[in-house]
Amino acid sequence: MSQHLLIDRSDAVLTLTMNRADKKNALTRDMYSAMAEAIASAQNDDGLRAVIIQGSESCFTSGNDVSDFINVPPSGPNSPVYDFLKAICHASKPLIAAVNGPAVGVGTTMLLHCDLVYVAEDAKLKMPFVNLGLCPEAGSSFLLPRLLGHLRAAELLLLGEMISGQRAAEIGLANHALPAGQPVLEAARAAALRIAELPPSSIRLSKQLIKQGVTSVADEVMEREGEYFASLLKGPEAREALTAFMEKRKPVFS
Ligand code: COA
Repeated sequence: MSQHLLIDRSDAVLTLTMNRADKKNALTRDMYSAMAEAIASAQNDDGLRAVIIQGSESCFTSGNDVSDFINVPPSGPNSPVYDFLKAICHASKPLIAAVNGPAVGVGTTMLLHCDLVYVAEDAKLKMPFVNLGLCPEAGSSFLLPRLLGHLRAAELLLLGEMISGQRAAEIGLANHALPAGQPVLEAARAAALRIAELPPSSIRLSKQLIKQGVTSVADEVMEREGEYFASLLKGPEAREALTAFMEKRKPVFS
């Protein structure tokens, strides 16, 4: 349970809403644990057919809580962030994302594990791992080049470039980019309700087939990324970048 995660269950759809507006829905250990638990238990719940993940109307999530990165860095495969990543990587039921505003770091990499992604045209997707003295996570170093090709993946992961929701849909990182006035949650919910009416075994096996060969590699890659990430997080570059963010100044890497 986390006060910063709203959980709604209706019409066979589980909707998880990240709800920490004052910190742009930055993800804490409690939020990761609550999301991991909800997603994992939905897999064995015959009354649920799909899971929607959303943020608020102005922000999906600003990624991992930066002060947690400094004070309680992820400690390997038993940490809440890994529980969450494993849950989305291994989910057998469709995961659907509804993205408004910024989706930073894991806010974008979690989308790579979703089956359907709806974004607002003016959403802002960004993976500034290198900018923070870190490296890709959540299997993104494998999943992103697979999805977009090496050059586009390098642009997003090495330069940490921000792209709009519209661009994300153009390059295949999202299914649809919705203009202002067309709520992304409505689109996500309509898709979830369509899935809820389809035969569940067929959906489950089809998802398994679509992801064949992907899940096990993503799993291995996540472990390797996790080792590099944990080691970089202790280093001087990340410390400077993260402290600079908290102090609202530009980092200096000299
Ligand atoms: N962790 C902790 N706090 C965060 C945060 C994060 N990931 N993202 C935002 N916040 C906090 C800010 O420190 C600020 O707190 P304050 O009001 O106590 O000063 C508050 O949320 C609002 O953020 P702010 O940056 O002022 O809002 P903005 O609208 O100007 O920008 C973002 C929003 C999302 C674009 C910006 O906050 C951002 O880029 N955050 C990303 C942080 C990051 O690098 N995440 C890790 C990725 S691996």
